[in-house]
Amino acid sequence: MTKTILLASDHGGFALKTALIQALRKDDCRVEDLGPDCTTSCDYPAFADKLAQRLLASGEEGQNGMLLGILICGTGLGMSMAANRHPGIRAAVCTNEFMARMARAHNNANVLCLGERVVGLGLALDIMHTFLAAPFEGGRHLRRIEQFETHSMA
Ligand code: RB5
Repeated sequence: MTKTILLASDHGGFALKTALIQALRKDDCRVEDLGPDCTTSCDYPAFADKLAQRLLASGEEGQNGMLLGILICGTGLGMSMAANRHPGIRAAVCTNEFMARMARAHNNANVLCLGERVVGLGLALDIMHTFLAAPFEGGRHLRRIEQFETHSMA
């Protein structure tokens, strides 16, 4: 089955988003670019919300690793903070391949956050490919991530 990858950025992540989309289109992936379409200064929460809502609207598809999001800003931090305000979104800032693999394997992260001012293109590509390929291990990790929703309401 073909994976679908949603991407969005702010102006600080626009160049990296453009480069990652080019790479994904060469791979066997469906790509949805949720904007922006230029480098004009913009606010990252709006784009994080757009991607989160699109991913959550998909229901089951968003839970099995076949629909994943990538959010890019200058650091990845603002995007992850904004995206993680949505219950059901597990957004992880990754700066190396180990974090990317563990974010999927243990945390079932459904959104990868990258910082264009933090990682170069080569590393970003490696992180992205690792994230997209790594399966969630389930088991005790499922029990733990299920507690995100209950504990955060306390
Ligand atoms: C924009 O200058 C920058 O603040 C933004 O891209 C991001 O890094 C915020 O977390």
